[in-house]
Amino acid sequence: MGQRRLGAVLAVVPPPVTVRVPSKINVHLSVGDLRDDGFHELTTVFQALSLTDEVTVAVAEEPGVEVYGEGERSVPTDGTNLAWRAVEALAAHVGKSDPKVRVVLRKGIPVAGGMAGGSADAAGTLVALTALWKLEIGRDELAEVAAKLGSDVPFALYGGTALGTGRGEQLVPVLSRHTFHWVLALDEGGLSTPRVYRELDRLREAGKPPRVGSHAPVVEALASGDPRQLALLLGNDLQAAAVSLRPGLRRTLRAGVNAGALAGTVSGSGPTCAFLCTDAQSALEVAAELAGAGVCRTVRVAHGPAPGARFVSGDDVH
Ligand code: C5P
Repeated sequence: MGQRRLGAVLAVVPPPVTVRVPSKINVHLSVGDLRDDGFHELTTVFQALSLTDEVTVAVAEEPGVEVYGEGERSVPTDGTNLAWRAVEALAAHVGKSDPKVRVVLRKGIPVAGGMAGGSADAAGTLVALTALWKLEIGRDELAEVAAKLGSDVPFALYGGTALGTGRGEQLVPVLSRHTFHWVLALDEGGLSTPRVYRELDRLREAGKPPRVGSHAPVVEALASGDPRQLALLLGNDLQAAAVSLRPGLRRTLRAGVNAGALAGTVSGSGPTCAFLCTDAQSALEVAAELAGAGVCRTVRVAHGPAPGARFVSGDDVH
């Protein structure tokens, strides 16, 4: 009898759900005009990388967010955390009031590094909650909720390689043959994305910093799978602004190429720099040399394209 009652209690508390979610780099980032809503019109090619965060959601009497790992002290655990805002947004979307959920973030993605770590956590939270709450919601419907949370959140849901337009939230998959190997140089501290966009506006008012070309050759290079072809085409309009705010990045970018990378670029709004290498072995060698060059806080090796947010544990593995 006692056992049956215990069984009934266990049945109503679903097990925690864990989702792994990728970081991203912008292989191509063309920033257009400032719109009336304060965002810039973008054309960007995202690639999801194997550097990931893990998000666990569990039913809890004490709702909230916990953060562990890379940069944990600089991530807010209050209602401003994008993962918590994802909880509230999805709860509102499905008409659930007062969500009793605890979100645990295990960070591998640098915080405020230009690799969409916060967006990844929000995307991971959305996917994990669909299982915890047994929601019949597809990725496309989740992407609508995701887009309201941030421009990069929908991409973290899908992963792979994609062309992003609008604010970056309108996505079309891009064929990317083979695996590309990257070395990431993580800097001390982060850069605020709005600040980098404002700096670009300022630079553009003061003169005419060169703009990246069309995305079409980049898409072709990805399809060819040839890293040498892609290396010639890496381009990011935010790079000049990030370097203007953090001049030391110029040295980091040079050091990566001197260490044997094919090419380097600031990732998104920085300050992380991403270096494309010929293969996995070369990436390890470049990482070792860059780590010894004293131009960055630490280095990571990653490959892409990586899959979007996906379940790693729990009963509701999809
Ligand atoms: O969408 P997300 O929250 O990542 O954007 C952060 C900030 O980056 C925005 O408030 C805006 O200042 C800037 N941004 C922009 N144009 C975009 C995306 C972001 O100006 N397409």
